[in-house]
Amino acid sequence: MLSKSIEAALNKQIRIEAESSQAYLAMAIWAEVKGLEGISNFMYDQSDEERAHMLKLVKFVNERGGHAHVSELTAPNVTFESYKSMFEKLLEHEIFVSESINDLVHISLQEKDYATHNFLQWYVAEQIEEEATARTILDKVKMIGDDKGGLYLFDRDIQQLTVSSAAETPGI
Ligand code: FEO
Repeated sequence: MLSKSIEAALNKQIRIEAESSQAYLAMAIWAEVKGLEGISNFMYDQSDEERAHMLKLVKFVNERGGHAHVSELTAPNVTFESYKSMFEKLLEHEIFVSESINDLVHISLQEKDYATHNFLQWYVAEQIEEEATARTILDKVKMIGDDKGGLYLFDRDIQQLTVSSAAETPGI
């Protein structure tokens, strides 16, 4: 059985994952409108992944005798100065999510809720992957700079940059 404080903390994370899904959906739409099809598909996939992260938490809360909440969400950014600034926001956001997961892990240990602590290890590993992917992408974006040909190739190949991380996180 979840304590009330753990339940509240997990529900907060459910909201963050839902907001992440919306944030990446907005990025996907922005990229699609700009004609950046590969980047857009990447962001649609990211958005789906965040929804899967949210659902995994929802199921866990309900299975442990809690009640998962569907919260009102803060509206995400819908426009970006450039695709570079969009990927900077992606990395910033993943760092924020990692910090939130760390806080949750801390609370679960404080309360000696080892089942929740064990469950959260999947998210700890996932955040390492997500931050690494975002950093790899941002490094490439910085390398490309204003080179239009580079952007064309990057947009074509971006999906390949995440193949390994997707393969290492089965079962979401
Ligand atoms: Fe579910 Fe990208 O954090």
